[in-house]
Amino acid sequence: MSHFYFALTNSEVEALLKQELNWFYPQLKPSYSRPGFLTLKAETAINFNPWMARLSGICLGKKSVEDLIKLPKAWLWKRQEDFNPPESLSELNQKSLFKIGEKVSLIMMVGENEFWLGEYVLKRTHFQTPGELSSILEKKAPSRAYYKLAEAFEAFDLPMDYEEKVLELGSAPGGASLFLLEQEMKVIGVDPADMDPTILKHRNFKHLKKPFETITSSNFQEDIDWIVSDVNLPPSVVIKEVDRLLEFLEPKGLVLTLKLNQDRYLRMLKPIAESFRKKGFLQVEIKYLPSHRQEIALIAIR
Ligand SMILES: C[S@@+](CC[C@H](N)C(=O)[O-])C[C@H]1O[C@@H](n2cnc3c(N)ncnc32)[C@H](O)[C@@H]1O
Repeated sequence: MSHFYFALTNSEVEALLKQELNWFYPQLKPSYSRPGFLTLKAETAINFNPWMARLSGICLGKKSVEDLIKLPKAWLWKRQEDFNPPESLSELNQKSLFKIGEKVSLIMMVGENEFWLGEYVLKRTHFQTPGELSSILEKKAPSRAYYKLAEAFEAFDLPMDYEEKVLELGSAPGGASLFLLEQEMKVIGVDPADMDPTILKHRNFKHLKKPFETITSSNFQEDIDWIVSDVNLPPSVVIKEVDRLLEFLEPKGLVLTLKLNQDRYLRMLKPIAESFRKKGFLQVEIKYLPSHRQEIALIAIR
C-alpha cells in the first residue's frame, strides 16, 4: 500500500527542502507538487518531519468541496493570498479549534478549484494557524528579525523574563533587539554594523560595535541569561564562537538563527544539536519558522 505525505514550504527554501528529502528521506518519491506545496509517496509508512518544511503531515489526497464541508472541523490554508475559497470552507477556520496532541485536518487550497486534504498532530511547537503561517501581527520594526524572534518566542514558549540580560550576536539594525526590549529585557548587541537610532538610544540597549570574534570576558560586568544570534556567517563559524563564549558565560538558553545558504550545512544540524545536549542543554529543538528564508532556528535551554 502506498503512503502519501505533504510538505508546505517557503519559496526561498524549496530547493533546500528537496535536497533534504533526497538525503534524509530516500524512500520518498516526489508526487504532485505546486510551488510551496509538495506531495510525496512511500511504499511503507515513515516518520515524516523534514526540517525545511514549514509544515508537514499525511496527505489524504485531492478532495471535492462537497466532501470537505462534511468535516466536523478543519483549517483551510490557501497557497496564494488572492485565492477565493467557497464560504462554506473559509468559515471552518473560525469554527475549528484544535488542542495540542489532537489531529488537525488541513484543507490545502492549491488552486482556484483544487483542494487537498492533509492531517498532522498539533504539537506544542506548532502555531495555532492554518498552514503554519505567522501569528505575529505586522508592525514597524527595523528588520524582519523582529518576526523571527517573536515567532521563536511563541513556538518554543521561551522562558525569557523581564530584566534578564541578552547577548545578541549580529544585532544590526535591530529588529530582534526591539522584540527583546519590548519584553523589558536588557540587551548587549554585538555587530560591527550600525544599529537603528531608536534602538541605540534605548536605555536598556548597549552596542558593542565590533565582530563577535573579538568579544572577551572583560566585556561583561554581569551574568548573561541568553545568547541570541542571527549572524550571517556559516553555522560552523557561529557555533565555534558560541562555544568559545560558553567557556566564560553561562546563559540559561541559546536562540540561534543558523543560515543555510549552502546545502551541505543541512548535514551540520544534527551534530550541532547533539553537541549542545552534551554540554548540558536539556531542551534542544530545531524549527523552520514562518518568517524564515534560507535559515532555521535552533534553541537550547538548560
Ligand atoms: C541578518 S543580519 C542581523 C539582523 C539583526 N539580528 C536584526 O535584528 O536586525 C546579520 C548581521 O550579522 C552581522 N555580522 C556579520 N558578521 C559578524 C561578526 N563577525 N560579528 C558580529 N556580527 C556580524 C552583520 O553585520 C549583520 O548585521
